[in-house]
Amino acid sequence: MSEAKTENQLRVDERLQHIAFIMDGNGRWAQRRKMPREYGHKVGAANFKKVVRHCGDIGIKTVTVYAFSTENWSRPPREVKAIMRLLEEYLDGCDADPDAQSIRYRFIGDRSVLSEDLRRRIDRIEEISAGRELTLNVALNYGARDEIVHAVNSLLARGVEKVSAEDISSALYTAHSPDPDLIVRTGGELRLSNFLLWQAAYAELYFTDVLWPDLSEEDVDEAVRHFYARQRRFGGV
Ligand code: FPP
Repeated sequence: MSEAKTENQLRVDERLQHIAFIMDGNGRWAQRRKMPREYGHKVGAANFKKVVRHCGDIGIKTVTVYAFSTENWSRPPREVKAIMRLLEEYLDGCDADPDAQSIRYRFIGDRSVLSEDLRRRIDRIEEISAGRELTLNVALNYGARDEIVHAVNSLLARGVEKVSAEDISSALYTAHSPDPDLIVRTGGELRLSNFLLWQAAYAELYFTDVLWPDLSEEDVDEAVRHFYARQRRFGGV
């Protein structure tokens, strides 16, 4: 736990094990400051580290972030390159980061189109962090429809003739994680944008106008309080 956290700090219980974030608003954050969009991603990447650390501090066991979608390749090449560079820098630095020693890194998404170098870095960090306490799923070249299609095809390839919901869950990129309890989207849009569509079946959704680079620890706590104020019935009464 990072220092200077008081005993009044919020703590979650077993009802809230997994929070997922759609980190939206980096581009607008930068444009409002007359800066290039890439700068927004840079500040967004720094904020991502802070938010993940805070999630660990309040007792969350699994965090998932939407870093790059299957659709994001259509952005200007300069922006795509900047995001990939940030990911590489992150992968290179995270092992030496004293605040990240309890993180188990998992990358979810289709890796086949990533550069060999990036894949090697991902494999390495997944391997050395295995067995750690806080699971961080980084969605990279991720799309939920793509994930479901991939899952069904891998079941068919295994010779499964009749597919159950459990079969699909176990063949998704997130098979190792429980479904998200809470999905937080920053940046004011009210949609899931092809993120964790299967896993979100019973997730509570929380939308905020705050742009991702500005999302503070207090904002995360606010989302958590909203989660606890809701009644989850899972289809029951
Ligand atoms: C959405 O904001 C954000 C992204 C598509 C990229 C998210 C990437 C990062 C936070 C940095 C890299 C991540 C890691 C894990 C190191 P947007 O650009 O769509 O914002 P806008 O809606 O204001 O245009």
